Amino acid sequence: MSKSLKELVDEISVNCAGKNQSLPAACYHREDFLALEKAKVLNGGWHCLGRADEIPGEGDFFTTTLLNEPMLVVRGGDGGIRVLSNVCRHRAAPVASGYGTASGFRCPYHAWTYEIDGRLRSAPLVEKKLLKNCQLPVIRSECWGGFIFATLDSSIESLQHSLIGLEEQIRNYRMEKMHHVAYFEETWECNWKSLVENFMDGYHLSVVHPQTLRPLTPTRLCQTMESGPAFTGYIANYAKSAPLRKRYSKLLTEDEKRQSKLFCVYPAMVASISPDTLVYLALQPDGPERVRVKWGLSVVEARLSAREKQSRIEKWQAINAEDHALLSSLSQGLQSALYTGGELAPANLEGTVSDFHDYLIAAIRR
Ligand code: FES
Ligand SMILES: [Fe+2]
Repeated sequence: MSKSLKELVDEISVNCAGKNQSLPAACYHREDFLALEKAKVLNGGWHCLGRADEIPGEGDFFTTTLLNEPMLVVRGGDGGIRVLSNVCRHRAAPVASGYGTASGFRCPYHAWTYEIDGRLRSAPLVEKKLLKNCQLPVIRSECWGGFIFATLDSSIESLQHSLIGLEEQIRNYRMEKMHHVAYFEETWECNWKSLVENFMDGYHLSVVHPQTLRPLTPTRLCQTMESGPAFTGYIANYAKSAPLRKRYSKLLTEDEKRQSKLFCVYPAMVASISPDTLVYLALQPDGPERVRVKWGLSVVEARLSAREKQSRIEKWQAINAEDHALLSSLSQGLQSALYTGGELAPANLEGTVSDFHDYLIAAIRR
C-alpha cells in the first residue's frame, strides 16, 4: 500500500532534509505531491516569464502563463513592464495572443478593448458607468538581472532583496546588459524538479555531454558557490584548453573569464551565465511527469552575425537535447517503489541538488 502524503513528507523530512540524500520516487510521480508543491512552493514563489528586452518599446508584449494563469506581459508608455491577467473581464476570453506591438488590446469575443496598462477603454453597447474601474488584474512583478519575474503571492519577500547574495556572485557578468536573441517553448517529459536538479548538477556534465560540455566544463573542475534561502548555484570552471571568449564584460575577473556560473532562482528557474552567453530555462509543471519549458538565450555582443547567433543556439539545442533524452529515461525509475533515494555526490558536484531539496522540504513543511 502506498504511503499517505503525510507519511511521505515525514519520510523526506527525516531522510533527505540536510542529509545529502536524493528524494524517493514518490516525489516525482504522485499527483498529490505535486498538488502540495503547488500549494506550498510554486504558488508562493517568484517565476521567470522572460527577458525585459524581449519587449523593448512601448506597447511591445508577449503572452504566457504563470502556473496555468494566462498572462499578458507588456511595456507601458511609462517604460515600465506590467504583467496583466490575460483573461477578459467580460467572459474570460484571452485579450491577446502570441507577441507583438499594440496600442491597446481588443478582445476577440465581443470587442471589449483595454489600454496597454490594463484599464478598460471601451465596451461596445454597454453603459460606460457600469464599467467604471474595470481593469485587467495587474500581477505583482519585478525585474532582476534583465529577467521579468512575477508571483501570484502578494506577501512574499521582494525578489531583488532575496537575491542580493546571488547578485554579488554574478554581477560582473552584467546579465542585465545582455541582448536577447531567441526563446523557445517546449514540453519535456519529466518532473519539473528533475529538470532543476539536472541543470544544477555538475556531476553529470562529463558523462551526459561528452562532446558538447566535457571539453569545456568537465565535471572534475566544478566548484561550489554560496547558496541562500532563495537560490543555489555552482561554478563550472573551463578546461585549460578552452579558448577565452572574444567579448565579455570589462568587470570580469581573470577567474570569471574562465568560468560559467549556473544558478537556480527557487523554485523553478535555472540559468547559466558565461562571459558571452546567458541561457535560462523557466519551468512550469504540467502534471507530475511533464514540464513546460521556456528557454532563452542572450548574448553580450550588441551586434552579432546571424551565423554566430545560430551557432550559439544550436550549441544549446544540442546540450538541451542530451539532457532532455536523459531526463525522459528517468521516468520508469521514478515510478519504482524500490527507488527510495540515493546518496548525493560531494558539495561541488551535487550540493546544489541538496540545497534545492532542503529548500523544497522546508517550504512544504511551512
Ligand atoms: S469575453 Fe471579452 S469582450 Fe466578451
Ligand atoms: Fe546537462
